[in-house]
Amino acid sequence: MFLTTGNCPIYFEKKGFEYLKNFLLEMGVDRQIFVITDENCLRDCWPLVEPVFNPDRVPMVIPLRAGERHKNLDSTALIWETLLGAEAKRNSLIVNLGGGVITDMGGFAASVFKRGIPYIHIPTSLLGMVDASIGGKTGIDFKSQKNMLGTFSYPEAVFVWDGFLETLPQCHQKSGMAEAYKHALIDNSGYWEFLKRGELSFERIIFKSLEIKKKLADKDPKEKGERKKLNFGHTIAHSLEAYFLEKETEILHGDAVAAGIIVESYLSWKSGFLSLECLEEIKGVICQRFTPVVFPLQDVELLLDYMKHDKKNDKSGLNFTLLDCVGGAIINQRLDASLVSDGFAYYAALK
Ligand SMILES: NC(=O)c1ccc[n+]([C@@H]2O[C@H](COP(=O)([O-])OP(=O)(O)OC[C@H]3O[C@@H](n4cnc5c(N)ncnc54)[C@H](O)[C@@H]3O)[C@@H](O)[C@H]2O)c1
Repeated sequence: MFLTTGNCPIYFEKKGFEYLKNFLLEMGVDRQIFVITDENCLRDCWPLVEPVFNPDRVPMVIPLRAGERHKNLDSTALIWETLLGAEAKRNSLIVNLGGGVITDMGGFAASVFKRGIPYIHIPTSLLGMVDASIGGKTGIDFKSQKNMLGTFSYPEAVFVWDGFLETLPQCHQKSGMAEAYKHALIDNSGYWEFLKRGELSFERIIFKSLEIKKKLADKDPKEKGERKKLNFGHTIAHSLEAYFLEKETEILHGDAVAAGIIVESYLSWKSGFLSLECLEEIKGVICQRFTPVVFPLQDVELLLDYMKHDKKNDKSGLNFTLLDCVGGAIINQRLDASLVSDGFAYYAALK
């Protein structure tokens, strides 16, 4: 089973590794392969895929430190230095094996090295499988701003196998679900009802989420219009992540997105788009399933400051994607800082 997005095939299940084997064989034996991964995925995931690689052509593994705090220029420079040191060529292949941090950063490193070398993604976290590994966005954080440096660039292929999730810590499984809830809230296919009832397997969740993301990314690859629906929850989430990056405190992307979903649903209600009933339902489901993000209310000004630097904004103000119902997103909504500040206060009072 596979989908294609931006000419990039996405292979599913363990069978996907058969395609990977063929893909590697077709590449020819003279091309170097580099595996970019992090310390956890090196331990838990690399042994599961290593046998797929031809024993005559052992790839060079580039292990990086795990976590968002290392999705930065230092780690990227380490990748480039290693590639240079090993005399990587323009036809070398990068294999990004890891969660969203690795696929974003490895994709970025590959997309600019020697003006771009081919790469593939093997996502190992739920968040990577439902969202980060497809859609052609790469990036790293810079000066505490999320994804400040990045490119639009597609891998040669993506190989999605939910077997990796067996070793994924529970908190990261939960974190990955936040993007699935976001997909469910911006798409009117009834996905939300299934997620609410907890009726779907990981396999179904991954496929359904990827279908929704693919549909929007294919229609609008460079995020000029409809793709912005995928930013629902993220204007708030990115400001929270920037705030915690600056403090060198760990916050999971999914927990930030869950907080963003609640605050932006509140803003949707306050702006007259979303009914109170829908707001209450969304709040109830998300609060029950995600770890609350705690910040002192006196730091809301700081959060607003981070938001002003967000690349989604322009001179005309803070740009949000809001909801007008469960399944209906409306893009390019400019909101006043004072209203956004109310949204943070609403969220903080929930705990
Ligand atoms: N490019 C996009 O379109 C896009 C979309 C959504 C999110 N993102 C980005 O994705 C990132 C978050 O991704 P994430 O939540 O996967 O974080 P992550 O890559 O840090 O992975 C989470 C943690 O789980 C570990 N891990 C991953 N797979 C594992 C496995 N199978 N077994 C054991 N441990 C495993 C990692 O080592 C890490 O410690 C953020 O930087 C976010 O900005 C990008």
